[in-house]
Amino acid sequence: MTRGIHLPLLAALLLSCAARTAAAPPAASPWSVIPRPARMQPAAHGQVRIADGATVAVTPDTSATRAIARQLIARIAHTRGLHLRLAARADPRAAIALQLARDAEVTGDSGYRLRIGDGHVHIQARAPKGLFYGSVTLWQLLTQTPGAHGPATLADGLIIDHPRFAWRGLMLDSARHFQSVADIKKLIDWMALHKLDVLHWHLTDDQGWRLQIKRYPELTRIGACRKAVGPDAALTGSPDKPYCGFYTQAQVRDLVRYAQQRFVTIVPEIEIPGHAQAAIASYPELGVTGQRPPVSTNWGINTWLYAPNQHSLKFLENVLDEVMALFPSKYIHVGGDEAAKDQWQASPAVQAQMKKLGLKDENALQGWMIGKIGAYLDAHHRRLIGWDEILEGGVPADATVMSWRGVKGAIEAAHAGHDVVLSPSPVLYLDHLQSDAPDEPAGRPQVESLKDIYDFNPIPDAIDASQARHVLGAQLDLWTEYMPTFARDQHAIFPRLAALAEVVWSPADSHDWSDFLHRMPAQLARYRALGIDYADSAWAPRFALSAGSDGTIDVALSNQTGQGAIHYTTDGHMPTAQSRRYDAPLSLPGHAATTLRAATFADDGFRLAAPRTRRIDETALRTRRSDQLDTCTHKIVLRIEDDRPLHGPRPFYQMDINDMCWLWKQAPTAGMRHLAVTVGNLPWNYALWKDAAGVIKRPTAAPHGALEVHRDTCDGPRIARMPLAAAARTKLQTTLHAELPPLTGAHDLCFIATGDPTQGLWAIGNVKLSP
Ligand code: ACM
Repeated sequence: MTRGIHLPLLAALLLSCAARTAAAPPAASPWSVIPRPARMQPAAHGQVRIADGATVAVTPDTSATRAIARQLIARIAHTRGLHLRLAARADPRAAIALQLARDAEVTGDSGYRLRIGDGHVHIQARAPKGLFYGSVTLWQLLTQTPGAHGPATLADGLIIDHPRFAWRGLMLDSARHFQSVADIKKLIDWMALHKLDVLHWHLTDDQGWRLQIKRYPELTRIGACRKAVGPDAALTGSPDKPYCGFYTQAQVRDLVRYAQQRFVTIVPEIEIPGHAQAAIASYPELGVTGQRPPVSTNWGINTWLYAPNQHSLKFLENVLDEVMALFPSKYIHVGGDEAAKDQWQASPAVQAQMKKLGLKDENALQGWMIGKIGAYLDAHHRRLIGWDEILEGGVPADATVMSWRGVKGAIEAAHAGHDVVLSPSPVLYLDHLQSDAPDEPAGRPQVESLKDIYDFNPIPDAIDASQARHVLGAQLDLWTEYMPTFARDQHAIFPRLAALAEVVWSPADSHDWSDFLHRMPAQLARYRALGIDYADSAWAPRFALSAGSDGTIDVALSNQTGQGAIHYTTDGHMPTAQSRRYDAPLSLPGHAATTLRAATFADDGFRLAAPRTRRIDETALRTRRSDQLDTCTHKIVLRIEDDRPLHGPRPFYQMDINDMCWLWKQAPTAGMRHLAVTVGNLPWNYALWKDAAGVIKRPTAAPHGALEVHRDTCDGPRIARMPLAAAARTKLQTTLHAELPPLTGAHDLCFIATGDPTQGLWAIGNVKLSP
């Protein structure tokens, strides 16, 4: 460590000048810290050098402060290769001093003050949580130069910081696909490094009950297993091996403790009264019909509800007793969403009970049930939180509402005096793809990009200043129907979590997309050092092809954010920052094949996106992938994953699962006499309940149906028909061929797979026209 020049007065002076008028754009961040701190003031001169062996001292010397220091030391060693030491005792002159002080000039328990100057780093906070966040900021300052290792030099300055919102969250769905305890610990670590503090844990649903409840062992003996359907077979190794998993109470205790050490509260969710099929599969007497359903293998809305009677309520109270013993969280999430009332409506017993209670409808009955659970939680000094449907049936006055059907629920709840957490679909739903790049995995194709999340406004305009205090914060929701592995989870979460972190932590008036982007390379470098399998979708090169003159093909390259420079090769080599820089559309020969590889780099050579490759020849303009086709309808458009091959990468298909119909608008059909279509068959369909009512079935006499091609419109003349029986014999992709009648000019082509989508789906991989 070396001494820098000490300019505390100048720093204080500059800081007092830093107050901005609301209209002024925020100044660029002097440091690459995410989320952007509330106030940052670099000094004009001076620096501190932190070398191997430098000490970290804590005041007071307690197990809590030591734990924070140890985490900091381990993180810096792991990500920067810089080895610090924990001082034996409090030492205000240590290279890094972490100090808890009741009178620290900070805002709240999460606030901190970090001063670099006078030859050392001094972090002050009133509470351990603030000290932890200060240590996270220091780690970020020490890792803001991508690739730097060993001793570090920090510029003198001052950071005074605290969060905008108290609820800074991520919801993890462990019911649809579950994650190992080790992976959830990683996720908690990474959340904490974004200064997030709530992990909302979705533990029960139709597709699995994932929490051990000692009083009800069938919940995990039966309810934690489902038949391995579709891509799940790849996870279990065989369609004959069920997909099973749950968390023991010992594991949960371990996770809760782990999260507490990182100042993350785990809020458990036990779904009531719907999304209860796995529970009813375990204990059929909890349901309305007395029948035992299977644990669901379908996504979407199932109609199995708890019976709204004393027996189910007693069960739920007993479950909640164990839940409350495991999770110290003030909030307990009780779901409340998507409880289709069909079974309640059809049940004379439920109808009689409704009448007896004097309730006007099934929503009011749900409200009564949620009210009972709310009272039980109140009696145990906990607070109920539920999805915004809980507003529909009359909600306990002190209930907190989680708005997911847009922000409507948040507005209504805040007007009615409820606290709210915002996690509206689609923008904060991570199952939406983050780009329209062809290499995105399965999910909902409506793109919710890094910028969409960055620009999310957590206080909707309809919530006025007097109600704004009801907004506790916001969270991203990771629904895992389409995320079978932790690698996929990470791809969906990062880097979008960084954008959310800034939304919920940083002052509203510091919101600045270009400044955020400017800080992202350092964040991506941290992700690499931490081993996070993040998505580079926001920077990935995109290829747009069009016909040039004289048989050439014009290729325009771009990326989603426009950040960085795209460099490319055409000789098969991997592009580096020294490769040719793209600055205008390329003109490539059509008659020969060119392998075009492109990657994106920041000005300093840091690679923002890994290389993407396109083979470009004359057939490229006559070929379309499913994601480049339109769907004929837009009922439930998904990008779904084939179930085969069992091992190794599997193809993805974009389609409306309610209508096996695709459109190629203005296909270059002139002179094309041959059509090749690659298809896959998916032996399942996720459309259920009201979603299934929209399914378009096209009767067919052919076994397994046929793929038909119609000219101009889907009702237009049929110009090709390819039976699917042979393709049905293989579980892998098949390429079908057809001759076309002579065509002139360009035509819209409509591709229709006949048959019943609910009996399994035919999906187009790609289509290709040839002379
Ligand atoms: C939800 O997405 N059903 C809360």
